Amino acid sequence: MRHSSLVVVANRLPIDDSIAPDGACEWRRTPGGLVSALHPLLRHTPATWVGWAGGTGPAPTLPDVDGVHMRAVPLTAEDLRDHYEGFANSTLWPLYHDAVEQPEHHRRWWEAYQRVNRRFAEAAAEVAEPGAVVWVQDYHLHLLPGLLRAMRPDLRIGFFLHVPFPPPELFMQLPRRAELLRGMLGADLIGFQRVQAAHNFAQLVAKVLSLPATDRRIGVDGRVVRIGAFPVSIDTAEMAALAARPDVAARAQRLRQDLGRPERVILSVDRMDYTKGIEQRLKAYSELLASGHVKVRDTVLVQVAVPSRERVGQYQILRERVEREVGRINGEFGRVGEPAIHYLTQPFDRAELAALYRVADVMAVTPLRDGMNLVAKEYVAARVDDSGALLLSEFAGTAAELSQAYLVNPHDLEGLKEGLLAALHAAPADVSRRMRAMRAHLHEHDIRAWARSYLSALDETGPLVQRLVTATDAAPATVPGQPDRSAARIEHPSGG
Ligand code: ADP
Ligand code: F6P
Repeated sequence: MRHSSLVVVANRLPIDDSIAPDGACEWRRTPGGLVSALHPLLRHTPATWVGWAGGTGPAPTLPDVDGVHMRAVPLTAEDLRDHYEGFANSTLWPLYHDAVEQPEHHRRWWEAYQRVNRRFAEAAAEVAEPGAVVWVQDYHLHLLPGLLRAMRPDLRIGFFLHVPFPPPELFMQLPRRAELLRGMLGADLIGFQRVQAAHNFAQLVAKVLSLPATDRRIGVDGRVVRIGAFPVSIDTAEMAALAARPDVAARAQRLRQDLGRPERVILSVDRMDYTKGIEQRLKAYSELLASGHVKVRDTVLVQVAVPSRERVGQYQILRERVEREVGRINGEFGRVGEPAIHYLTQPFDRAELAALYRVADVMAVTPLRDGMNLVAKEYVAARVDDSGALLLSEFAGTAAELSQAYLVNPHDLEGLKEGLLAALHAAPADVSRRMRAMRAHLHEHDIRAWARSYLSALDETGPLVQRLVTATDAAPATVPGQPDRSAARIEHPSGG
């Protein structure tokens, strides 16, 4: 059993299995903000990542990936249904995103949530060396800090929530609200994306648990739990270097040609999720086409929407509706060889994403609610010539930082159309002034700055931060042509 002084616990491992034609297993990064943020940070750092490897059945024994020890936690089919698809993604996810879809409550899901949190806690307790730092991620694991503290009081425990934390009016709907809050309070430091989220949490702790709470400190069981906002970010330099590569620039030029050399390319890149505002965006675009404000030959929309949580009913319904609407818009406004919307559901490697970002004159990031939204940050990082207009929802966590974007309220259809037109027709000087300011911000507030600020707050006395930052700064560049893809053979205990 390998022990680590830094243990990251997240629902997913930063890899996903797929069987190659020769029967070998290849491991790669999956689309999603958490892995995008943590993967470049932890690469080449002596640490253990505890998480789910995808699939059901016994956990595979995994090789180290880029020096990080991978510890897989098994999920049964029932756990997957009731914990991941149920409590995490059909109760908490919609509730935390303004209940834009109806959250569901089932007692069986709560049992699975407790069971799976306990299993993750046991795995973390096993691999953490005495006095280690354990950094727990996201809403799948709210109970873990409390469970882990009971098992291993010697540990320093951090919790970070990547998604929004809702106002009391919404959180109070949860039948097991007190247990969830208590679970989080097992941590020494609880990090949120925004100041408002920390405020919501403090209010709830005071109201539900009657504990003394400010927006910075909470007293519980004779301990002080600190809370605060730590907006997550990206590896800005890595994305900029990728976008500046000659092969990526050439690929962007080819993409523009393949799109029919339009005057303007609008791009959106989302997981297929009802929080991302895809339907509202399509409606705005379709009305602009109908009114003649946008013409297909001059302007194209590229919508990348990679399927997500595909067995959850709300996600299946969304996909059907989006695909029907894309079909309708293309049927009504497209011409032979000139679709109004280029619709892609594939996962792309980082170089292809960077080329897409480079070809986009306007990037439309218009979620109804989003904890952060790293796609917006990636776009800014990729605009190495300071061009490109970012159309950004006020309801994305990113908007608090990238205030020079063209900000819109995605619930306001007319406002969304006006914002899109403003971004399409903005004067180049205005566009680059805004882009320069956003790039300067991201240059300073990158993923290492995030880790430094969070971990130094968590581990005030320890050498952890220094070690982590030194290790990631020394990490070798990604392999040309194969960015961010780690391949290794794995062993499945039952061949499954
Ligand atoms: P979320 O965490 O809700 O998925 P974010 O915007 O924060 O939203 O993060 C999404 C991450 O997934 C980004 O790093 C983005 O580059 C990546 N991603 C999104 N779509 C794709 C895709 N089609 N192929 C590869 N990566 C993708
Ligand atoms: O950002 C929120 C989040 O749930 C992350 O935890 C995860 O990276 C991403 O969305 C993708 O979701 P999933 O792991 O369910 O595919």
